[in-house]
Amino acid sequence: MAEKGKIAIYPGSFDPITNGHLDIINRSSKLFDELIVAVSSDNSKETLFSINQRKNMIEQSVSNINNIKIRSFKGLLVDFAYSENIKTVVRGLRALSDFEYEFRMAIMNRNLNEDIETIFLMTHEKYAHISSSLVKEIYFLGGSIADFVPGPVLKGLEKIKDE
Ligand code: PNS
Repeated sequence: MAEKGKIAIYPGSFDPITNGHLDIINRSSKLFDELIVAVSSDNSKETLFSINQRKNMIEQSVSNINNIKIRSFKGLLVDFAYSENIKTVVRGLRALSDFEYEFRMAIMNRNLNEDIETIFLMTHEKYAHISSSLVKEIYFLGGSIADFVPGPVLKGLEKIKDE
């Protein structure tokens, strides 16, 4: 099957999206004709936000970038990529500690479908310490996360806290 244009998938849990994810999205959107941000709806992690909440927060945070689509997917990432006829997966790397997990995932995905390549972008150093899980922990313990997440995520977290 011929590949369509230069399209890549940026997959993740995005629970919630952070400024680090946004940096990778911004930079990948300049490298590809189109970027699909693919939100996993059933990986093994329990999520704070529902799939629709996670998608909405991403949508509101990337409204300034026009070659992006936000999709959710169930099941294997490589199957989703194959069904969309996309052969490039983008992942961000923050630190050495990310490497082992990313390495195993990339090799496993290549074993599952050797046509699909994973490429890695180094995070901008100013975002290297940010993760969705730390952001949630800090927020619910009363710390300020305004420098780490986009506005829609702050609103989303406030809504959950008020419920
Ligand atoms: O943001 P995360 O949690 O690091 O993203 C992980 C994600 C969603 C990319 C990964 O868990 C994934 O691809 N899940 C889909 C199911 C799958 O393909 N699992 C096998 C991975 S080798």
